[in-house]
Amino acid sequence: MTADPRLIVALDLPTRAEAEDLVETLGDSVSFYKVGLQLLATGGMEMARDLKARGRSVFLDWKLHDIGATVEKATAAIVAGGACDLLTVHAEPQVMAAAVRGRGGERSAKILGVTVLTSLNGQDLAEMGYGMGVEALIERRVRQAVDAGIDGVVASPHEAHIARRIGGPDFLVVTPGVRPAGAAMNDQARAATPADALAGGASHLVVGRPITAAPDPRAAARAISAEMDDGRRAAF
Ligand code: C5P
Repeated sequence: MTADPRLIVALDLPTRAEAEDLVETLGDSVSFYKVGLQLLATGGMEMARDLKARGRSVFLDWKLHDIGATVEKATAAIVAGGACDLLTVHAEPQVMAAAVRGRGGERSAKILGVTVLTSLNGQDLAEMGYGMGVEALIERRVRQAVDAGIDGVVASPHEAHIARRIGGPDFLVVTPGVRPAGAAMNDQARAATPADALAGGASHLVVGRPITAAPDPRAAARAISAEMDDGRRAAF
């Protein structure tokens, strides 16, 4: 069985050595990995280059958020490094426009906007001064992402349909919070099964602990890939 390219495994591990062990264990069952901020601090960029050298795809989930000039130069440097297939930035208009400028003509690196962090609820947004709820802000930011010309967004399974509806069939909708039927939720508040996330509009699923903390990660990855085969993308 070849790996399902829609499955992205989050390497949320404390050291590069542990991340490398996991990649070795997963072998050909996984072809796409997410390197986040935790691993960045312990050799994540070298790990990303190694993954690319081994023919894997790499999602750098660094959620850039700064003035336009800084985001533009950072994006250009990351893309020039050649070890990035997907990069996240916060979905604010100036930030997204800067990332698109920084990426330049290098279309193989896709930019994703993080609309609203899954840790925020309506009350948090009110305290931060936003005059709208979570769904309304997500919808607004997806529209701004489309206007900025980025390639897609990160969205929870419960909000993926908003991004799919607004972004259209080719828009990337990358969805964390995926749990196989009957699995532990951990701290994921709004989880869905792989099949339901895909049916709801996701193009890619990000899965961490259900695979990384499984007694047999390879078997867990294969089981989730099999569940993904049961998911059909909705007709949008
Ligand atoms: O929960 P899991 O280990 O599968 O997490 C996979 C990814 O989901 C994490 O790397 C993180 O980016 C994201 N996440 C989230 N909300 C949470 C927990 C994790 O969006 N509450």
